[in-house]
Amino acid sequence: MVKPLVAGNWKMNGTAENLGEIAAIAEAADGHADVVDMMICPPATLLRNASYSASGTALKMGGQDCHPEVSGAHTGDVSAKMLADAGASAVIVGHSERRADHGEGDELVRAKAKAVIAANLLAIVCVGETLEERESGQAVERVTSQLKGSLPEGATASNLVVAYEPVWAIGTGKTPTADDVAAMHLAIREHLSSAFPGEGSQMRILYGGSVKPSNAAELMAVDNVNGALVGGASLTSADFLGIVAAYE
Ligand code: PGA
Repeated sequence: MVKPLVAGNWKMNGTAENLGEIAAIAEAADGHADVVDMMICPPATLLRNASYSASGTALKMGGQDCHPEVSGAHTGDVSAKMLADAGASAVIVGHSERRADHGEGDELVRAKAKAVIAANLLAIVCVGETLEERESGQAVERVTSQLKGSLPEGATASNLVVAYEPVWAIGTGKTPTADDVAAMHLAIREHLSSAFPGEGSQMRILYGGSVKPSNAAELMAVDNVNGALVGGASLTSADFLGIVAAYE
């Protein structure tokens, strides 16, 4: 059995006044720890204080992006090592907002994922098709090509998680049907099983894109969905815990 992961991606949201939400999630985390791993990925500015808020609990912290190198002359960037130092145990890489806003391609995403793993952290690698690709029947092909380009060789079930996030479902309130999610997650599972023999069958594949308390149970029940990557609904403890409740 693969233990699911529900991870919250705060994106560019949150200042010190929002740390109470993390404390409230942390307080509830131990009660769910047997069945589900829980993580919040706050902005880098909050990571250290958020880690203090969650210390001693089962709630894990993650970063949202990192530079592929460990240190150096890269103004404004942070490395996986720095995120680890601030309390992260994981880093999201290749989110579609990074791919779109910063022109990040598969090769860079793969280098970032390698850096995350080299820092002994969990790499959460995001993939997902655009609406145009979905409507033209190219969704599985697009996602498979992103997997081929973005996943580092030699990854294991304990250092790599894939998050499938259809771009058109992010922040829109729209979600694919359970059948479409099942078909995509099966395609991802098949790719992982052949690319990472002995590990791919155990790697977690998260679904992300407009997950909320009202649809979490249905989405999390789909075959090969091993948790969620949650944006907007992770900003309040009530909504985030409402999603985690899908695993009760
Ligand atoms: P959303 O974002 O839950 O707000 O749709 C998901 C994500 O981008 O990770």
